[in-house]
Amino acid sequence: MRIVAVANQKGGAGKTTTTMNLAAVAAEHSRVLVVDVDPQQSTTWWADTAGDALPFDFAAEVDAAHLARMRDLPYDVIFVDTPGNLTDSAILESVLEVADFVIVPTEAEALCVPPMVRTIQQLIEPAGTPFRVLLSKVDMRTAGQLEGAEELIETIGLPRFTRAIRRYKIHADAPIDGTVVTQYPESRQTAKAIDDYRAVALELMSIWAHEAP
Ligand SMILES: Nc1ncnc2c1ncn2[C@@H]1O[C@H](COP(=O)(O)OP(=O)(O)OP(=O)(O)O)[C@@H](O)[C@H]1O
Ligand SMILES: [Mg+2]
Repeated sequence: MRIVAVANQKGGAGKTTTTMNLAAVAAEHSRVLVVDVDPQQSTTWWADTAGDALPFDFAAEVDAAHLARMRDLPYDVIFVDTPGNLTDSAILESVLEVADFVIVPTEAEALCVPPMVRTIQQLIEPAGTPFRVLLSKVDMRTAGQLEGAEELIETIGLPRFTRAIRRYKIHADAPIDGTVVTQYPESRQTAKAIDDYRAVALELMSIWAHEAP
């Protein structure tokens, strides 16, 4: 069992979208639980809209201090969506104490990088939890956006997922529709959207496969 925190104190980085869709893809092969410790409760709202259609289990309003106990539950992976602000730092710190891995989604914009670096340097690195940056909401129609962001992360020397998450309208609509990526109406855009998350899930698997037993 692995506990994966999805964290970045920069708001709107794509944490909730990453949590729900990565969980959906992981649930195709594993027993998955999503936990919401964010007082803003975006994941909970999304999960409520989805109702019984959700392809994984969901736990709302979880006290981060109780997360360690959840390790004994019969799941292969627990994804934890965390708060995107500085006020709730204590919640994030509690999550990082028990997490085995941290996914750090960030928008592919230069101005979003300093607040992300702050979260990494002040909270993630001190906790000693392995992490990777995940470029999110990447607009493929903006020439050079992806390459520019990749170069910036490279220059700072942060580990990142090779694959990025592209920006699609279907992702923005999903919380209102109560769907996750594996349930979007079939289209070329859906196929690409699913492919992004499958690629990230595979990268996670390969990181874990190379870990010492
Ligand atoms: N890949 C994407 N394509 C299109 N829209 C996206 C994508 N990822 C996120 N969004 C949209 O961007 C906004 C912010 O995303 P999200 O809520 O996932 O970020 P967050 O980091 O959880 O925010 P917060 O810090 O407020 O918790 C939402 O409106 C969401 O629908
Ligand atoms: Mg969120």
